[in-house]
Amino acid sequence: MGSAPAKLILCGEHAVVYGRPAIALPLDGIRARARVRPGPPQSGVVVFASSLRRRWCVADDPNTPLNELILSTIGQLAPGPLPDLRISIRSGIPIASGMGSGAAVATAIVRALAGSFGQALPAAAVSSMVYASEQRFHGTPSGIDNTVIAFEQPIWYIRPPAVGDAARPAPIIQPASIAAPFTLLVGDTGVRSPTRAPVGEVRARWQASTTAYNCLFDDVALLAYRIRDCLAAGTISELGPLLSQNHALLQQIGVSSPELDTLVAAAMRAGALGAKLSGAGWGGVMLALATPETAPRIAYALKAAGARRVFETTVAPYSGAPAPDT
Ligand code: MEV
Repeated sequence: MGSAPAKLILCGEHAVVYGRPAIALPLDGIRARARVRPGPPQSGVVVFASSLRRRWCVADDPNTPLNELILSTIGQLAPGPLPDLRISIRSGIPIASGMGSGAAVATAIVRALAGSFGQALPAAAVSSMVYASEQRFHGTPSGIDNTVIAFEQPIWYIRPPAVGDAARPAPIIQPASIAAPFTLLVGDTGVRSPTRAPVGEVRARWQASTTAYNCLFDDVALLAYRIRDCLAAGTISELGPLLSQNHALLQQIGVSSPELDTLVAAAMRAGALGAKLSGAGWGGVMLALATPETAPRIAYALKAAGARRVFETTVAPYSGAPAPDT
């Protein structure tokens, strides 16, 4: 068995693709799981994805990003003839919704494969294998999704830009320390929005209006630093307005949607301390900062405003100590 959590971007999505910092959290309670068992002789590698109601043989289409990841992982773990395996996947993470479903499924599969060959891969190795597959899916991913999902800890993440012809420097990945717990409600618009589309559109807009977009990304970066300080100091009451300011900047960047704005407004009317879209946008999820007392009212308001699903999560204090490798 291998499993991996969903994730939330607390602040900095999109700007992180352009070298600005972002903060991401694992959502331990919502996970993707994979199980690897021996398959019948000559069956090859067959994948059963119950959440998608799909079954496929990896060799039939070896060039899809997920099949390629499966084949390269097996090749790395057990060089030689392809074994006969059944890989079953179950996931409670909504697809194309900004919660890292693709990266979590990929991470769970890599972990399950490693386990089936009696190996434990360090989180950094899993993360870089999944990043290669994310590049096939999303074009220009920053790497924040695979990192927070593989490390399973709150992270502060910067992917420095490439300068000239020099190789891009390695990302800066630091544990984000959290001094006081806080409650988040996650509202799913139900609108599926594959990451590639808004990320591509933001790139086109950035190319057309580079100075304006760089200013927006710089404003997001300032918020990210302030949010990191609030988390580290435990001043959660100051966090809400900063999250809402991040939403306003994401609207200007052009990645919100009427459905996201409706849920954000409903959460605020119901007493949220702040709210924003989370992930790539144009659909998917938003998050609202609540208290244990206001959470039921905000959850009700989100459902009444059209949220297909509402998740509640309490983000626990975190000292910043690296998690043990899973
Ligand atoms: C997606 O979860 C976050 C984006 O910033 C894309 C990326 O960082 O690769 C929109």
